Amino acid sequence: MTDADQTRDQAREHAVETALGKLDLDTKTRLLAGQDMWSLPAIPEIGLGSLVMSDGPVGVRGVRWTADDPSIALPSPTALAAAWDPALARRAGRLLAQEARRKGVHVVLAPTVNLHRSPLGGRHFECYSEDPYLTGAVGTGYVKGVQDGGVGTTVKHFVGNDAETERFTVDCVIAPRALRELYLAPFEAIVTQARPWGVMTSYNRVNGTSMTENRHLVNEVLRDEWGFDGYNVSDWMAARSTVGDILGGLDVAMPGPTTVYGPALAAAVRAGEVPEGAVDAAVRNVLRLAARVGLLEGAPPVVAEPPEAIDGQALARELAARGCVLVRNAGGVLPLDAGSGRTVALIGAAARDARILGGGSATVFPERVLSPLDGLTAALPPGTLTYAIGADPSEELTPAGQGFALRAVCRDASGAVIGEGSLPSGQVQWIGDDLPAGAAYETMATIEVTGRFVPRESGPHAFGTRGLGAFALALDGEVLWEGVQEMGDEADPFEAFFGAPSERARAVLTAGEAVEVSLTYRVPDMSTLPLKAVMFSLLHLGPRRDPDELIAEAVEAARAADTAVVVVATTERVESEGFDRVDLRLPGRQDDLVRAVAAVNPNTVVVVNAGSPVELPWREDVAAVLLSWFPGQEGGAALADVLLGAVEPGGRLPTTWPAVLADAPVTEVVPTDGRLEYREGLFIGYRAYEARGVTPAYPFGHGLGYTDWAYESLEATAESVRVRLVNTGSRPGREVVQVYLAPPAGDPAGDPADDRAGRPASRLAAFAGVEAGPGESVEVEIPLPARAFEVWDEGAGAWRRIDGTYEVRAAHSHADTRLTVTLDL
Ligand code: BGC
Repeated sequence: MTDADQTRDQAREHAVETALGKLDLDTKTRLLAGQDMWSLPAIPEIGLGSLVMSDGPVGVRGVRWTADDPSIALPSPTALAAAWDPALARRAGRLLAQEARRKGVHVVLAPTVNLHRSPLGGRHFECYSEDPYLTGAVGTGYVKGVQDGGVGTTVKHFVGNDAETERFTVDCVIAPRALRELYLAPFEAIVTQARPWGVMTSYNRVNGTSMTENRHLVNEVLRDEWGFDGYNVSDWMAARSTVGDILGGLDVAMPGPTTVYGPALAAAVRAGEVPEGAVDAAVRNVLRLAARVGLLEGAPPVVAEPPEAIDGQALARELAARGCVLVRNAGGVLPLDAGSGRTVALIGAAARDARILGGGSATVFPERVLSPLDGLTAALPPGTLTYAIGADPSEELTPAGQGFALRAVCRDASGAVIGEGSLPSGQVQWIGDDLPAGAAYETMATIEVTGRFVPRESGPHAFGTRGLGAFALALDGEVLWEGVQEMGDEADPFEAFFGAPSERARAVLTAGEAVEVSLTYRVPDMSTLPLKAVMFSLLHLGPRRDPDELIAEAVEAARAADTAVVVVATTERVESEGFDRVDLRLPGRQDDLVRAVAAVNPNTVVVVNAGSPVELPWREDVAAVLLSWFPGQEGGAALADVLLGAVEPGGRLPTTWPAVLADAPVTEVVPTDGRLEYREGLFIGYRAYEARGVTPAYPFGHGLGYTDWAYESLEATAESVRVRLVNTGSRPGREVVQVYLAPPAGDPAGDPADDRAGRPASRLAAFAGVEAGPGESVEVEIPLPARAFEVWDEGAGAWRRIDGTYEVRAAHSHADTRLTVTLDL
C-alpha cells in the first residue's frame, strides 16, 4: 500500500466512524437488512447512498433478471481457471467492474471459490478448480481486477458449499486439517493477497454450526487471523437467527424487506440479548464498504477514476480461446487447414443452439450469442461447411424462445389490464419492484404470458410450465390445461427457478403456421412472504425427430466431409445451481452419435461444451477432443479461432477428468440424516488419484497447445524455482510451467502431522505461464509460497513447516513431470 493509499484509507475510516456516531439503533439495524432483493437502504442523513449488489461470476446481471437489460457473458469459471493465468482473471475482473458501473451495481456477488470436491457438484461449472492453490490464485486475480475498477467483490460461499443437495441445511463434517488445507485455503489466499471488500457466508453448516452463525470461522479465522475487514453478507435467505447470526459475525441479511435483522435485531439489543457493540461492528463493515465504492459522502472512494474502457466482446472471445483445453490431438489433426478448400461437417444440437453458461444465479443475458455454427460459418470459405443436428440432448421442455414473440399482461381482480411488458422468452422472473409499469403486487391478480408462436418444424409440440401455483394454458383460445403445481416436501425455496419442468399439453402444429399461445398464472397473496417475486415459465419442446434418423443424417454429412466437428453438450437440467448431478453421462444419444461419426470419418474432432467433467467413452476413437466448457457469448468465434489455428488452445485442466464416475474420488454428495461427511479428508482431485493409483481420462494440468516444449533446466531454493525451457515446435506458444512438491517421507513413529501416509504424495505449489516463439528459449523464476511446505497441525491448531528432503518437479501436467530436483529444508 502506498502512502497515498494509506491516507485515503484513514480518511475513509474517519468518515465511517463519524457516520456511525450519528446513527441510532433502529437506523443501524435497518442498514444491516436488505431493503429488497439486491440493495441496502440509503440513509440520506449521513450522506449514505443505497448499496446495490448483483450476481455474478461470469457477468453482471444488474438488479433486473431479464434479457431486456443485457450483460456481457464471459466464459464460465472452469474456463477462466483453465487459462491458469491470474493476470487474465484480473482483466476479466476489470471488465466486470466496468459492467457493474454501467448498471449501477456497487458490489459483485462473486467469485465462487468452493472446490471441485466431486464432479457431481451442481455448481462445479461455477467454481474454479479441485486445487486450492489454483483456485486462490485465479480468485485473487479476479478480485483484484473487479476492485481495480472501484467495485466490491463478495467471495463465496464461505465455506463448505461444495455440493447442492439439501444445501440450505446440510451439515458438512470436515476435519480441521482438510478444512484448512483445502476448503478454507482459497479464501485465505484471496483475503490475504487481494483484500476483498466482501465475503458471502453459505447456507450450509460446517461441523454442526450454520455458516451464518459460525463465530469461530468468521470472527476468529476470517477476521482475526486473516485480517478480513470487508462486509459479510448471508447467501440469499440463509440468515435464519437474529441473535445467532449477529453474534456469529454476519453483517448483512439478504434479501429483504423481511429479514431476521432490522426491527428484530433492534429488539434483541433492547432485550439485552445482543450487545450494541456487535451491531456497531457490523455497521462499521457496511459503511467501510460504502466508503470504498464511493457511496458515503466525505469518504474518498478507493478508485476515483474508472480505468480505461475494455472491449467486452473482444475480451470474451479471447478468454474463451484461452480457456479451451485440447486434451487429445492424434496425428496433429488440429489446427484445421482452412485455406485449402477442405470441407467440414459440423454436427450437434449445441453447435447451433449454443450452451454458453450454466444455470442458476450465475445466469446473465447477453446481447448476442455466437454459436459454433455462427463462428465457423464466418471463418470458413463459402461452400465448405455443412451442418447436421445429429443428436438433440434437450429432451426436456425449456422456456419458450425460438419462434415465440411473447408479452406479459398483468390484470387486477376485475380483469382490467394494469400493466404490460414484452418478454424475451417464456420465463417470467420479476423480483421486488421489477414489474411492468403500472403493475403492483397488491393489485395484480393474474399474469398472462401471451403471444404468437411460429413453429420451425411440423409435428407434435409440447407445452408446459415451471413454477408453483395455479395456471391455465391455452392455444388459439382453447384451454388445454388448467391446474395447480404444489411445492414438494423437500423443495428448494427457489423451486420455481430450478425445479423440473412439467409437460401440460401437446398440439400438432405446422411449420410456418402461427398459433396464439397463452399461459395465465394466478398471483398468490404475498403479504406475508419475506420476498415479493413472481417466477414461472411457459415451456416448450419442438417435435422430436427419430434419433436413429438424426444420427444417420449426421453420418452421411461426416462421410462426405474431410473433417467432422461434433459438438457434444450437457443441458440446463444437468449443470445448474440448486441440484447436483446424478451421473457424468452425456445426455441423449450423443455417445452413439460420436461413435457413428468417428466410424466413417478418421478426422473427427469432438468439442465438449460442458462446464464440468463428462464421461467420453469414445475418446480414444476420435482424432481430437477439445473442451470448450461453457464458453460465454463469443464462444463460437473463439472456437473457430482455435480450430483453425488463429490462436492456440491455451487451457490446462483445472480439474482431473475421470474416465468414469466410479473413478472419481468423491461420488457421494447426498447427505445422510442431514450430514455430509468429508471422509476422504485431504484426498480430493489429483491427490486422490495418485494415492489410489487410478489413471484418469485426463490428468490435472493436462492440455496441449499447437507447439512443443523441452524443459532444459530446473533449480530450486526454498523461496523459488527457476525453470528454463525451449519452444521446439514451429509456432509461437504459451506453456504453463507447473511446479509440484513431493514432501519428505515422514517418521511414522513421530508426530502424526508429519506422517506421509496421511498426506498427499504431491501437490501443486506454484505455476507460471511463459511464451516463446519457435526455437526460442525462455527462463522463468517462480516464487514458492511458504505455505507449500506447511501442514495444518491439528494438535497444535497451527500451521507447521515440515523439514526434510522435498522432490521439486517442473511439469507439463500432474502426470507429466519434465524435470526433478531435490531440495533440503
Ligand atoms: C446463490 C448465491 C447468489 C444468490 C443471489 C443464491 O441462491 O447461492 O450464489 O449470489 O443466490 O442470487
